[in-house]
Amino acid sequence: MTNRTFAIIKPDAIKNGNTGKVYDRILQADFKILSAKLMKMTLKQAEGFYGVHRERPFFGELTTFMSSGACMVLALEKENAVAEWRETIGATNPKDAEDGTIRKDFATSLGENAVHGSDSDENAEKEIAFFFSESELISNK
Ligand code: CMP
Repeated sequence: MTNRTFAIIKPDAIKNGNTGKVYDRILQADFKILSAKLMKMTLKQAEGFYGVHRERPFFGELTTFMSSGACMVLALEKENAVAEWRETIGATNPKDAEDGTIRKDFATSLGENAVHGSDSDENAEKEIAFFFSESELISNK
């Protein structure tokens, strides 16, 4: 098991002024931020990142949204990071998210759900590598 996961603060959360609040939740949950960058994905990048969903009916909507404005991509570190981050963000659909989770508090819909989190250690490593080079990941250990 690795102790890293990958997160995105999505364009809806940035547009709604929630970047700092999400950042606070990350730190309150004791994640270390190995790297973070503010960027605007191209449609091609969004299509590459979400390639696993290419055949899904929502693929166009998802990739158009993810490339519609600034987002922040982050590499996070904590013991059992993938599961811990998924617990911190809550269910994909904010209607199903537990009280106190990021999606419950900041997401507006299934499509515009404020944040992303990797769903497995394997995907966490792939997703981190999609946006960061190894030298950009700063460990303070
Ligand atoms: P995320 O964790 O970033 O991973 C894939 C995303 O697809 C997911 O969050 C949702 O925002 C989005 N998604 C999943 N299902 C649907 C759906 N039925 N309609 C629109 N977007 C969806």
